[in-house]
Amino acid sequence: MIIAISGKGGVGKTLVSSLLIKELSKTGKDILAIDADPDSNLPEALGVDVDRTVGDVREELKKDTAQGKIPTGMNKWDILDYKIMASVIETPEFDLLVMGRPEGSGCYCAVNNMLRKIIENLSENYDLIIIDTEAGLEHLSRRTTQNVDVMLVVTDNSKRGMLTAHRIGDLAGELDIKFQDLYLILNRVRPKIEEEVVKKAQETGLEILGIVHEDEEVTEYDLEGKPLVELPDDSNTVKAVSGILSRILRE
Ligand SMILES: Nc1ncnc2c1ncn2[C@@H]1O[C@H](COP(=O)(O)OP(=O)(O)O)[C@@H](O)[C@H]1O
Ligand SMILES: [Mg+2]
Repeated sequence: MIIAISGKGGVGKTLVSSLLIKELSKTGKDILAIDADPDSNLPEALGVDVDRTVGDVREELKKDTAQGKIPTGMNKWDILDYKIMASVIETPEFDLLVMGRPEGSGCYCAVNNMLRKIIENLSENYDLIIIDTEAGLEHLSRRTTQNVDVMLVVTDNSKRGMLTAHRIGDLAGELDIKFQDLYLILNRVRPKIEEEVVKKAQETGLEILGIVHEDEEVTEYDLEGKPLVELPDDSNTVKAVSGILSRILRE
């Protein structure tokens, strides 16, 4: 099963992704986490150090090719596949692949196109793949996430967050991308205005799968730079994401 987390920048995609991975790790399944946001911060949330990204590997190979370092008779794509496999970081609970960003002002689309291929190649090796996507709609228009089973769209209280969520739903329809499930998650909701937020969220046309409240404990972890996966099991946010996961797995 492939689960992707999407939405506007800063709405809580990485928070939801990291806590889903935390909860899934308890199931003993083979999990691959992919950080597909060029503004990468999933490794920090997971408490994993990363020294090589897919973007780095691609740059290396480009340089080697330009300098004629690729032995004749060797296929560039095979080398790339091999190097990508070698940049998967293994931890006892899950594997992690960070797409990263290409050097300089390079277009992110090259890395994005690679992501589609990586998902195709690696999906057989894992029970579950969790993708923390790039903010916005690009992953849909480039069809990077077309093979995703469950698309979770995250939004906060903001109108812009809701608008991006709405557009993701609309664009998936326009591009005829049929996710098995497409859900909305409301994050950083203040209980006082929950009713109003839910009403606004219903206008996106997406089914609301769960609500995560604004959480001071998360803010404290942010302040100290502590990995979010270290939040205790009785944290309200961990419990909320755990509920979301059981709803995904039940259906
Ligand atoms: N429910 C919440 N309560 C408090 N802070 C939150 C909550 N959700 C997210 N945050 C914080 O907001 C910031 C942006 O969240 P993040 O998950 O990085 O967003 P995204 O990945 O969508 O850009 C982070 O510092 C994160 O810890
Ligand atoms: Mg993020």
